[in-house]
Amino acid sequence: MEATIKQVLVPRFGDESVLEVIEAKIASPQAGEMQVQVLHSVVAGSDVNMRRGMYPLQKKAPLTPGYSMIGRVLENGPGVTAFRPGALVACLTIYGAQAERMNVPARFVVPVPEHVDLRQATALILDWMTAYEMLERSAQIRRGQRIFVHGLSGSVGTGLLHLGRLRGAEVFGTASSSKHAELAANGAVVFDYREKEWIGEMRRLGGVDAVFDPLGYQSFDESYSILRRGGLLVGYGQNLPALTNGPRPSPLPMILKLFARNLAFWKGKRTTFFGLFRGSQHFAPDLALLFQWLAEGRIQVPIKAVYPLTEIQEAHRMYARGSGIGSIVLNVS
Ligand SMILES: NC(=O)c1ccc[n+]([C@@H]2O[C@H](COP(=O)([O-])OP(=O)(O)OC[C@H]3O[C@@H](n4cnc5c(N)ncnc54)[C@H](OP(=O)(O)O)[C@@H]3O)[C@@H](O)[C@H]2O)c1
Repeated sequence: MEATIKQVLVPRFGDESVLEVIEAKIASPQAGEMQVQVLHSVVAGSDVNMRRGMYPLQKKAPLTPGYSMIGRVLENGPGVTAFRPGALVACLTIYGAQAERMNVPARFVVPVPEHVDLRQATALILDWMTAYEMLERSAQIRRGQRIFVHGLSGSVGTGLLHLGRLRGAEVFGTASSSKHAELAANGAVVFDYREKEWIGEMRRLGGVDAVFDPLGYQSFDESYSILRRGGLLVGYGQNLPALTNGPRPSPLPMILKLFARNLAFWKGKRTTFFGLFRGSQHFAPDLALLFQWLAEGRIQVPIKAVYPLTEIQEAHRMYARGSGIGSIVLNVS
């Protein structure tokens, strides 16, 4: 049955003031879909870039953002039996989760244990899953290895720090100096990204086993330079121009150069670019493991701020201020 819901809308690309909360109709779920009442979503870098019209291969406006959600199943579409109405579920939605209800493809839905902190669980789906997959699947980090994380205070960076420490790695990285004490208390050796001191320090130590770099462009060159033999550079973004308000050159030459470095096999260093893919065979079991660790108290996810859906503009402004550590969560229903 058709229902009326509230949802966020980016009617055209622009600054925070373009964001609206509108009333919209949602149809019943189709074959292979389920309708979910969304409880929480996140406000991530991807949403902010989509609002600006700067996310790679993104939809045109108007669009409803919301890259991930946790909610309760309301209704199954034809042929869907995996979850009963009322079940607590999670999904990497990419679009559309900043809405009171949404229809999601049932094959991408993962069960959520009852009694976990749902806000922390929401932050696991995009930010910590990106961190976990890069550590475990791309770099296969082992106890005692040394990793370098650009933006330790960011949503993904925080995940890399906590999961890297849990794995037994030595964690180095960058953040604003106001956040160094808190990050050091969590086991990181932190440098200010405004200085380039970390490059010399990492080389003096003999290099690192893996670098995780969401910045791109010249940062990929710097990251490559601190790898030891056998080390891996994992690029996963092209955020530098957005963070420095600089010009945004085409990312294609940068990505080609990143992969071309693998041709220099005699250097013994490797490079890759990571993208979180909800259709991968690892996605559901790895997310289930993170939910289990949260339920057991093995991990705790720092939450920077929580906003109601109606304060979406303020949530985006908070993101731009860059204050605090961790993820921004939206209370939707
Ligand atoms: N490939 C994928 O599958 C995937 C998945 C998720 C996210 N991403 C990408 O990952 C990137 C990071 O996302 P996020 O949500 O973690 O971002 P975030 O929470 O906004 O964190 C940004 C980080 O960058 C640091 N920073 C700010 N200005 C900087 C500068 N000039 N130089 C170096 N570092 C600077 C910040 O440090 P301070 O706050 O301490 O100043 C903060 O630690 C985004 O580009 C996003 O699209 C990719």
